[in-house]
Order: sequence, then C-alpha cells, then structure tokens
Amino acid sequence: MDSRIITADGTETLFNEEFGEAYHSTKAGAYTESLEKFIKPTKVVEKSLKNGKVSILDVGFGLGYNVSTAISEIRKNSNTAVIDIVSVEKDINVFNKIRKLNKPNFLKEVYDLILSGDFSSQFEYKIYTVNKDNVSLKVIFGEGRKVLKFLSKEGKKFDAVFYDPFSPKVNTEMWTVNIFKLVRNLMMDDSILATYSASLAVRKGLIEAGFKIGLVDPVGRKSFSTVASVNGEIPPITKKEKLRLENSPFAVPYYDNDDLTLSRNEILRNWQLKIGKKS
Ligand SMILES: C[S@@+](CC[C@H](N)C(=O)[O-])C[C@H]1O[C@@H](n2cnc3c(N)ncnc32)[C@H](O)[C@@H]1O
Repeated sequence: MDSRIITADGTETLFNEEFGEAYHSTKAGAYTESLEKFIKPTKVVEKSLKNGKVSILDVGFGLGYNVSTAISEIRKNSNTAVIDIVSVEKDINVFNKIRKLNKPNFLKEVYDLILSGDFSSQFEYKIYTVNKDNVSLKVIFGEGRKVLKFLSKEGKKFDAVFYDPFSPKVNTEMWTVNIFKLVRNLMMDDSILATYSASLAVRKGLIEAGFKIGLVDPVGRKSFSTVASVNGEIPPITKKEKLRLENSPFAVPYYDNDDLTLSRNEILRNWQLKIGKKS
C-alpha cells in the first residue's frame, strides 16, 4: 500500500511508489488543490447552472479528489444538474486505494456515491461505472494515450478537462503536444482545461497544440497553475511569462510520435537533446 501523507489542509493523500510522487500537492492540500486548481478554474459549477448539465473529462482519476470535489461543489448549487464525467486511469488498483484512504468527512457522501459503482468490460477496456442521482461516472482503465484516442474516435466533446497526471519529468508521455492535440479535439471551443503544472515545456506544448493559455493564482507555492482553452474566457498570462515562453531555453515542448507510442524515456531524451542537456 502506498504510504499516507497528511497534507497542509488536513486532508489525506498517498505517496505513489511507481512514480515517486504524492498524488497531490502536500503544501496546497489534497482537497484545496482540487478546488483551487481544477474545479474553480474550469467553471464547472457555473456551466452546470447555466446549462442544467456539465460534462467533464478527468485525466488521471487517481484518488478521485477532483471528481468528488467537482460533484460536491456542483451539488451545493444544484440538486438536479446532470453531471457526466469520463475519467482516464491506468492503475486498476485505485479503488482499493480510495477504500483505504481516510477521506474528509465533508466528501464522505460523494465518495459513497463514487464507491457504489460496478466494473464491466467494453471493447478492450475495463470500465467502472456509476449511474445514480443524475451523476454518470465512467472510469476507463487503460493507457491514457490509447483511451483518449478511443474517446476522440467516438466524437465526444466535453465542457471541461481536469488534466492531472504526475509531473512532466516522471510522467512525460502524458504532457506532449501530440496528446494535447488529442485532448483539444475532445473539447468545445469555449471549454477550459486546467492543470496544476507551471512547466514552460507544458505551457509551450499547449500553445503549439492550438490553445491559448492563462495563469491561475498560486496555492501552496509561488508558481501559478495553468488553464488552456481554444476560445473560452480565461485569465491572461503576465508579460513576464510571455517573455519567458519566448526566450527561455527550457520553453521547448515534449513530442511523441504520430501514433503516440514513444516511451516516456524516449520522449524525455528527445527533449533533453533539444534543450542541449546531456542525460
Ligand atoms: C496525480 S494523480 C491524479 C490525482 C487525481 N486527479 C485526484 O484528484 O485524486 C495521477 C494519476 O494519473 C495516472 N496516470 C499516470 N500515467 C498515466 C497514463 N499513461 N495513462 C493513464 N493514467 C495515468 C496515475 O495512475 C495516477 O492515478
């Protein structure tokens, strides 16, 4: 079992041994990170109120904080809004981890809902489904790039994207221009993607994939997190960040191949060659 960490706001997260990172920012707090870096910046509550429904693509389901916080915030404002969430996750054990996690009391009801689902198989994927109280949650288990390609072929478009893999240095295959283009095709022009990452390579990659980007005020650290949208209303980037994106030698995106099959190490090595760093 991954070891437990109590984060700055008192909520619990786990340390993931495979990636060598915690699932959440320990300094911001697991719950606070979800609320401030994902739920508020993507405007899912506002969208659910305006349209009576909202659809969310959740990349990296993990311990389910982003999903549970989104449902909780939307339900505080509307008992009837239809919430449609599709999550992408490679680790089939996440539900065992969630069962053992000490979850915050104020999210208990929503976690009970999330844990009331069933596993099934569809095409080549194991899928976990919850369909209750106007919430539809589908967690598709598989390699993220493959699952996103599959969703993209189905022609689905989401109102918001929570983009939350582990950090670019250890989870590089999930942060390339190629995958961002795929995600862009899964969004409406006014949909907003939010990520905790402040990496120049990630920001530059989002821009190259056709997004405009914006900055979200820091929580638990100095750097701003990032939002991206084709044409939605997002906060601006600062002049200083614009200059860094234009001039920094590290403002070079990560690239996969066209099939999105390069290994994490190949992607990282190619990037290091581009920035002139010896591995
Ligand atoms: C930082 S955690 C997500 C935390 C989660 N959003 C939450 O709110 O609790 C990153 C998640 O991305 C998943 N992940 C990493 N690489 C992946 C890949 N290539 N395909 C699919 N999922 C991946 C990990 O298994 C992990 O559960």
